[in-house]
Amino acid sequence: MSLFNWVSLVLVLYLLSPILSLNGSSDIPPRFLNYAKKKELFDWMVGVRRKIHENPELGYEEFETSKLIRAELDKMGVKYKHPLSVTGVVGFIGSGKPPFVALRADMDALAIQEMVEWEYKSKVSGKMHACGHDSHVAMLLGAAKILQDHREELKGTVVLIFQPAEEGGGGAKKMIDEGALENVNAIFGLHVANKLPLGEVASRPGPLLAGSGFFEAVISGKGGHAAIPQHSIDPILAASNVIVSLQHLVSREADPLDSQVVTVAKFQGGGAFNVIPDSVTIGGTFRAFLKESFMQLRQRIEEVVTGQAAVQRCKAVISFLENEKPFFPPTINDKYLHDYFRIVAGDMLGIDKVKDMQPLMGSEDFAFYQEMIPGYFFFLGMQNGTHKQLQSPHSPYFEINEDVLPYGAALHASLATRYLLQSQPEVTLPAENDHDEL
Ligand SMILES: *[C@@H]1O[C@H](CO)[C@@H](O)[C@H](O)[C@H]1NC(C)=O
Ligand SMILES: *[C@@H]1O[C@H](CO)[C@@H](O)[C@H](O)[C@H]1NC(C)=O
Repeated sequence: MSLFNWVSLVLVLYLLSPILSLNGSSDIPPRFLNYAKKKELFDWMVGVRRKIHENPELGYEEFETSKLIRAELDKMGVKYKHPLSVTGVVGFIGSGKPPFVALRADMDALAIQEMVEWEYKSKVSGKMHACGHDSHVAMLLGAAKILQDHREELKGTVVLIFQPAEEGGGGAKKMIDEGALENVNAIFGLHVANKLPLGEVASRPGPLLAGSGFFEAVISGKGGHAAIPQHSIDPILAASNVIVSLQHLVSREADPLDSQVVTVAKFQGGGAFNVIPDSVTIGGTFRAFLKESFMQLRQRIEEVVTGQAAVQRCKAVISFLENEKPFFPPTINDKYLHDYFRIVAGDMLGIDKVKDMQPLMGSEDFAFYQEMIPGYFFFLGMQNGTHKQLQSPHSPYFEINEDVLPYGAALHASLATRYLLQSQPEVTLPAENDHDEL
């Protein structure tokens, strides 16, 4: 190696050292995992999760879930603010001073009838925790317990964000508007994953999940007898042409290397075999990773719906439902936090269990936090190879492998604790011999 290379190597090590030489803190993740796996803590998390599972509540209606969270925080002696965003709770553990790091869990369930027959099945007909948010809450409460029991190790403040309405309601946005991120330097969030093995995690730096929006259009013509079409203006045919034209936006107007989706998922109109209806309602969703692509889709959907309807003499009124279903920005992971996450998760699980993954077209309202501050979102495996294959989120057969709870709790707690340690403002640059861990 030339002298120049040696100099650059030393320089690179020097620049990386605040991230990599977390002196004396690499034992935190395995220590916290052992703590979380202890029978008492594990059984308690399982109990919390089952209680929430039995009583699922939809977005902005999580009153009992919120009450349960506050009761458990009270028992631990953790202070919190409530309510933010109707049912949201924000807890604080540590010194009450900077730095501040946030951990987030979502509380809402889905309007799905549970089909899994088990002792703790949903007691509310037509509602179910089919996306694992019950386990997310249990894991964040588990993290609260670990952190509170180790509070003397916290060099700053951990902010616990329990938010409502992740499933399309934009609960995160309202939490931010009401001050949940005040003083917060960084935020972490997770989602259970049914296909990923237990004890493994997966994520990526940069774009992880797409931005998403919804649209609904009413296409109006003139109803009449189906056998005398010349006296009507047929909105069914116009809507059909609109749908076909919408499919050209991604196939003909988008860069093939810039992933996008436009799906019409709703088509309502007509009710008789021999009547041309007055109007048809169509609706759907669109997804993209880049803000420009997303705004381009939004504009072109509007133009195609109104323009193509006009070709067939129909009128179209389109709405993007921004009040009930705000646009979700893309979920974009901070690159520095990605390196940091790999170190912490690697120390807990072994670096071979920390996987990189491809981006997905799904979306997450965690993205709202990442628009404000650096944030990191990752998937937490729960498939035990010796058990049956777990079903996908939003399936009425969705199940949680409760063995995942200690992993989520310990990862949350470790990510926060070490983040505070390494974010000390007065960190002195390490001396030569501190490069040992490299
Ligand atoms: C690093 O850790 C070792 C052992 O835990 C300790 O003796 C030493 O003082 C630490 N160094 C610094 C700079 O904190
Ligand atoms: C998978 O399940 C089996 C039986 O329930 C258990 O013995 C094993 O420890 C589990 N594996 C992991 C990684 O937890």
